Amino acid sequence: MDLMEKITSLAKRRGFIFQGSEIYGGYQGFWDYGPLGVELKNNVKKEWWKTMVYDRDDVVGVDAAIVMNPTVWEKSGHLKAFTDPLVECKVCHKRVRADNEEAVKDHEKTHEEENIWTEAKTFNLMTEVLLGTTEPKEKSYLRGEITQGVFVNFKNVVDSTRIKIPFGIGQIGKAFRNEITPGNLTFRSREFEQMELEYFVKPDEKASEKTFEEFKLVRIKWYKDLGMNPDKLHFHDHEPEKRAHYAKYATDIEYEAPFGWSEMEGIHHRGDYDLKNHGLTYRDEMTNEEFTPWVIETSGGVDRATLFFLIDAYEEDGERVVLKLSPKLAPYKIAVFPLLKNKPELVEKAKEIYQTLKKEFVVTWDERGNIGKRYFAQDEIGTPWCVTADFQTLDDNTVTVRDRDTAKQKRIAIDKLTEYFQNELR
Ligand code: GAP
Repeated sequence: MDLMEKITSLAKRRGFIFQGSEIYGGYQGFWDYGPLGVELKNNVKKEWWKTMVYDRDDVVGVDAAIVMNPTVWEKSGHLKAFTDPLVECKVCHKRVRADNEEAVKDHEKTHEEENIWTEAKTFNLMTEVLLGTTEPKEKSYLRGEITQGVFVNFKNVVDSTRIKIPFGIGQIGKAFRNEITPGNLTFRSREFEQMELEYFVKPDEKASEKTFEEFKLVRIKWYKDLGMNPDKLHFHDHEPEKRAHYAKYATDIEYEAPFGWSEMEGIHHRGDYDLKNHGLTYRDEMTNEEFTPWVIETSGGVDRATLFFLIDAYEEDGERVVLKLSPKLAPYKIAVFPLLKNKPELVEKAKEIYQTLKKEFVVTWDERGNIGKRYFAQDEIGTPWCVTADFQTLDDNTVTVRDRDTAKQKRIAIDKLTEYFQNELR
């Protein structure tokens, strides 16, 4: 099995990621997160919000609607320019992205004929929705990027807060793209989540370039601080012809996935493109000067980050599979066990500890099989610490705390556990 197969199998077996609508044969480009996946993904979003919104004095958040007045998409340029090049196989009519070399080559292998592709056509990625009760129904779109919800609320945010330029608006939410070739698990989906900061600055070439460079560092540091292997991260500047229609210039943070270096987050200098198209300006209260701010954007994919954190954390250590996730991201922080499940006094003590820790942390309980099997099962889902109540616990109110990465144990007093884990998670 290659690494992607192992990750896919683990993700399903342990409840991280399931194929969407699986009992009906799935639905291409759609995925469901299971009990552990939702925790991991929520932790990714929580850490993003903490770094990009709560830890800063110059950023506020919004949560805009997914479906917007269709005029938004006309003004934003998405109806015209949000496209990918598409080619169709003349033999079987399969359509693939012309720039997806792997998909093109794979498909060519399925036919004996040569020159099977049509000329590349542009294919719009916006997903249409039909609304209202009268026919014909009104056509709108599921948002292709969460970003426009920030721009259309620019004035509302300025008017309702005391925030002044330079400032940012953060948002996390679902976006939809009718991708031609979804694939690589959740990497390219038709429904996915984005975590974005739109940072508004004065129109100034040099200063905005400095802000762009600063945000590049803020964002790559975020992945590293959460444990991603720095050797598997780099920036990839977009060549002018590959830039999105709104970008003055752009760079991607790429991760070296088993399927090659792949975009995880885009950092874009959007200039005045969006606010100008929406006819929005800003008035400096001190100078009374009115201008169209420029925008520096950091746009991360929640699902891609989640997938790459999973891949990056995966390690095999002999028989043992360990997900070395940062404790901040791990679905469960702690697992609590009684050493033996048929000793009521041990079970009772372990349950007490479990209930106490549950008030502060996301904790799981396990009493199946033997202790070795339980450690293995917790390692495989990335639980950083296992707490076991054993016979010594009944004498001196201490427990063993076993560390996932070193497999070493130490004894800690029960009344010191909460403080111990709080410090570890700081
Ligand atoms: N607002 C800017 C924007 O949407 P983008 O580069 O098109 O920029 C930003 O997308 C991020 O969204 C990407 O770096 C990626 O992480 C994520 N993303 C884009 N398309 C995706 C898809 N089909 N499936 C999963 N994630 C996707």
